[in-house]
Parts: sequence; structure tokens; C-alpha cells
Amino acid sequence: MSIKRLPPELINRIAAGEVVERPASALKELIENSIDAGANHVAVRLSAGGLELIEVADDGCGMAPDEMRLALERHATSKLPDEAIDRVTTFGFRGEALPSIASVSRLVLESRVRGSDGWRIEIDHGEEIAEGPAGLPPGTRIRIERLFEKVPARRKFLRSPRAEYSACLDSVKRLAMARSDVGFTLDHDGRRILTLQPSEAPTRVAELLAHELDRHGIGIDCAREGIRLTGVISLPTFNRGMADQQFLFVNSRPVKDRLLVGALRAAYRDLIARDRHPIAALFLDVPLEEVDVNVHPAKTEVRFRDPAAVRGLIVGGLRRALDEEGQRSAAHEQAAAPVMWTSDLTPQPRDNGGPAVLQDIGFPRSRE
Ligand SMILES: Nc1ncnc2c1ncn2[C@@H]1O[C@H](COP(=O)(O)OP(=O)(O)O)[C@@H](O)[C@H]1O
Ligand SMILES: [Mg+2]
Repeated sequence: MSIKRLPPELINRIAAGEVVERPASALKELIENSIDAGANHVAVRLSAGGLELIEVADDGCGMAPDEMRLALERHATSKLPDEAIDRVTTFGFRGEALPSIASVSRLVLESRVRGSDGWRIEIDHGEEIAEGPAGLPPGTRIRIERLFEKVPARRKFLRSPRAEYSACLDSVKRLAMARSDVGFTLDHDGRRILTLQPSEAPTRVAELLAHELDRHGIGIDCAREGIRLTGVISLPTFNRGMADQQFLFVNSRPVKDRLLVGALRAAYRDLIARDRHPIAALFLDVPLEEVDVNVHPAKTEVRFRDPAAVRGLIVGGLRRALDEEGQRSAAHEQAAAPVMWTSDLTPQPRDNGGPAVLQDIGFPRSRE
């Protein structure tokens, strides 16, 4: 038996298998990078559900040419202050996304730091094929084409442009809800799909969730032991056949965590048929030392130091809100009086583009 080290090219491909499953996951990584770069605005362009083209342009800090080269190397990141992995507040920190995506696609990276000239690097399946000056506004623009063209094993699992598009839209929505202070546009096949101005979380959520929720939703705002839960959930009578309208966030990071999904489900037990699902956008704010986000390559799962406390807060908080709502509508002998979740929310003037501070955002709770 002889043991050999994996060549870097293969390591990147293996990582790509974990980080980049489909266009939507590549898109998610790019948008996260733009937000981490301090962008105020992120412009996304897709063709054929991202199968032909994924382009993300931002007005963030940009990179100098030598930083661009480093960014394309594995495990190179600008996001680890003092190597404190448990205190990261950026989306990224593993330094894996760009080299992984570049190893399975044709990638053009263009970037410009304010006050200097732009630069461009082209990578074809892991190999640099060109570089030179580029004309672009300050910020970064990344184009990905021919994703998985040379990886038949992956290509096989891709679905129709339509299905890939809806997964891409979901990625954009989740990040746009996570960071309402950032503006977004989304174009698909030349059509403008979304235009989102920077705003407060409730406004952003209202823009992106089933709009009926302004009449069928319940505002949530509760806290226990330093953990705070805010957002909106649907009345039990307003539910869906799929769990696709459940948006969950931990410290402004979109997650698909089993504990949270399970707690949401438990709160509606006996109120909703087994095969039906509530609509929800819930923001959990937890002290950094209470949660580990580095348990999953795509960082969609988290680990809580005290899972029972988190579950208790969610189940208890939602249950209380649902019960109060039930009593209220029974007292008024009418189902689902209009809920003013959006109508009394005028868009706030934007702050200076800093991270969303959910503590300052009022989710209206009662509607007496
Ligand atoms: N849009 C961008 N604007 C500025 N810098 C970026 C951008 N995208 C990537 N970078 C730089 O490239 C590095 C590597 O990115 P990535 O591979 O996604 O790893 P990570 O985000 O985990 O650091 C980042 O740490 C950052 O310094
Ligand atoms: Mg990243």
C-alpha cells in the first residue's frame, strides 16, 4: 500500500462537491462574499437558472490584483481576525468557495479598489488562462459559466433551468432577508425579477414573503436568557403543502437547521394538519459563544450550546403568540381580522450600511 497526498486540483474538486452542489449554492457563496466585502448593493444576473451564467457584481471593498490571486487559492481568507474561529461574524471564513467554484467552471474575477485601477483574472477549470486590466466601478464582479461542464457526475444531478432558477431565487431571498440593509437586484434571462432597496427587516420580509401574510401573519418578539426571537409566522389557517416558505436565521445567517425547523413544527402541533406547513420568517439572536456555525461546509446548520433553551424559547414563544391570536379572533367571532404587519411600517431611512442590528428593529406584535 502506498499513501499519497491528494494533488491540490483534486482537493479543490472534492471541496467543490461539498460547497457547490448546484448553481444556487455557487450563487449563495458569491452573494455572501459581496456582503462580507461591505457591499451596499449586490446585482445578480442569471441565465438559464444559473446553468449558463451566474454573475454577481457588488460595490464592496474590492481586491488588489495580488489579493485576487490569493483569493483564488485554497484556505486563503481575509476574514479570520486573530484566528478566533468562534467569533466570526462574516458569512465566510473557510476560504474555500472561490477556488472550489473556479475548479469546476469557467470563472472571470474582476475587481477594483476605490482609487486604483481594475484588474481581471480568468480561470478555466482551475487553470488561469488570462489576466489584465479591467474597466469596472469600484467593487467586484464575478462571472461563472459552464458550471460542472467537465464534471459529468455533478452535471447529472442538475435539474431543469426552471428548477435551478427557483433554487437560485430562494438563495437570493434568504440572503436578502438576512441583510435588509443591503440593496439587491436580480435579473433572470434579461428580465428584472427583484429590486430591493435597503430597508428594515420587517419591510424586507414583507416584500419577499407571501404577501397575504400582511393579513394572515402574527408578529413575534420574545426573549429569554439573552436569546431573542423576532419575525413573523402565519396563522394556522394560512398554511402550505410545502415547507418552502420557512426562512430561519441565526445571528443574521440563513440556516436550515433541524432543531429550528422541528421547534417551528412543534409550535403548530394540533393546530395544523400533519402534511401542512406554516409560513415563517424567524430571526434568532444568540450570543456568539452560545452557537457554533462551523459545523457544516455550507454553514447552513449550526450547533447550540444549549439546544433545549433555544427550542423552549421558540416553541413557547410561538405557542403563546398563536394562543393569544386564537383567543383574540374567538372573542371577535371572526376569523383572521386584518393584520397590520406591513401597513404601519414605513420604510426607514437607511443606516450607514453596517450590519443589521435586529435588536433595534420593532416587529409589531399585537394588533388590538
Ligand atoms: N466580492 C468580493 N469582494 C471583496 N473580496 C472578496 C470578494 N469575494 C471574495 N473576496 C476575497 O476572497 C477571499 C476568499 O473568498 P472565499 O473563497 O469565498 O472564502 P471566504 O469567504 O471563506 O474567506 C475572501 O476572504 C475575500 O478576502
Ligand atoms: Mg466566501
